[in-house]
This record gives sequence, structure tokens and C-alpha cells, in this order.
Amino acid sequence: PRRTPLMAGNWKMNLDHLQAIAFVQKLAWSLKDANHDFATVEVAVFPPFTDLRSVQTLISADKLPLTFGAQDVSMHESGAYTGEVSAAFLAQLECQYVLIGHSERRTLHNETDDVVSAKVTAALGHNLVPVICVGETAEDLAEHGPSAVPVAQLRAALAGVSNAADFVVAYEPVWAIGSGQAATPEQAEQVAAALRALIQELLGDDVAGKTRILYGGSVKAANIAGFMREPNVDGALIGGASLDIPEFSSIVRYQ
Ligand code: G3H
Repeated sequence: PRRTPLMAGNWKMNLDHLQAIAFVQKLAWSLKDANHDFATVEVAVFPPFTDLRSVQTLISADKLPLTFGAQDVSMHESGAYTGEVSAAFLAQLECQYVLIGHSERRTLHNETDDVVSAKVTAALGHNLVPVICVGETAEDLAEHGPSAVPVAQLRAALAGVSNAADFVVAYEPVWAIGSGQAATPEQAEQVAAALRALIQELLGDDVAGKTRILYGGSVKAANIAGFMREPNVDGALIGGASLDIPEFSSIVRYQ
């Protein structure tokens, strides 16, 4: 297959550090019991900051085939930024990934395209793989059509990125997040194809060919297969359904 699919569970502000240990253990057992081949479909979890040390310790002690990342990162290196967490700290905890520009951060914490771009640069500077989140609101969709806003957001996010960088894109229509109303596979494919065309324009064929583009927004076991049939969709960013082990496990084993 062209790109290894990635199923990424964004826990948002759920599961404390004790619950996280039990959850990750059960998730790994559930997938192993089902003979899931982790080389065929990668499974990543994105716990809250306070859980990362627990998750790191468990994954490394039990040699679990899961990857993990943080839900946000500071754009600053270090210093007087109360409440912020640096890319260096995340790298030290063996995070492979970090979500950047999730719609909840853009909306609730006023993250602009410039902030997102600076965070992408900070993450790459510490060899973290940014999962760059883009997506349009219902108003954007009505006003500008499906691809304009996500493409503009990705263009801004990639402003300082070279073709040596490794990153993932998550297309999440804001109207589909937590609403139970997912985009159709055709809608997701249309935007994913536009995002890949932009990557090709900015960074060339190789990067466009290898970069994974995820769909997110009300993904569940019952709709994942449709998204995965689309040629430009390489996995999913899953919120609510990633907190339910049987459901998440079914999403991962969509084939
Ligand atoms: O990061 C995940 C998305 O915000 C999707 O959330 O699967 O609960 O709709 P959801």
C-alpha cells in the first residue's frame, strides 16, 4: 500500500493518568487479541499532557506497538510562558506526534494561522511529527465551498516547512466534530485531494506522495470503511469513539 494508515485517538480532556494506564493496556490487549497487525494500520493515542509520562512508561515497559503524542505544544523554546509545554519536553517523553491547530484550540484559544505555523516549526525543531489540523466551519462551507478554508489554513501552517519535514494533516470539518454528522467519504476525499495538491505545489511530489492525510469528525466503526476506500484518505483522527475500546478497536480493524 502507498501509505501506512494511521488511526489516531484524540482523548481531548478525558482520562486521568491512572485511567490512562488501564485504558492503554486494555486497548493493546484488545487489538492483540484480535490479531491486529500494527505494521498494516498504525494506532496512536493523544492523551492529556499529565498522562504522557504514564503512557510513555507503560508503552516502553510492556513494549506495546502503539505510538502516542500530545494534543498541543508551545511555539516557544523555553522561558517565562506560564502553563505552556515545550516541544523539547514532549520529545524527551518520547512523543512521536503532536496535534497542532485542532479546531478547539483555534476556536477556544484563539489560535491563529500564524500561531499554528510557529508551533509546527517548534515541533519540527525537536523531531516531533506535527499532525496539522485544518477544517472549515458550516459558515465557511456555505460561503467559500469545501476546500478553500482548509487549503488556506494548510498553506499558512506549512509556511516555514521544508521538503525534508515529516508531518501529517488532519482534515476535520468543524461542523462534523462531535456532532454525530460526519462528512461523506466523497466530501472528505474532495478536500483531502485538494490538500494533497497543495502539498505537491509547495513541497513536491515525494512529500505529497508520502504525507498521510486523515479525516476527522464523527468517525465511528459504522462509517470508517467508507472513508478508507477513498484514495487520498489515509486514516482518521477520532475523538469520542476513541474513548470506547471496542468501538475504537473496530475502527482500527476496518478492513
Ligand atoms: O480530534 C478529533 C476530532 O475533533 C473529532 O472528534 O470524533 O468526537 O467527532 P469526534
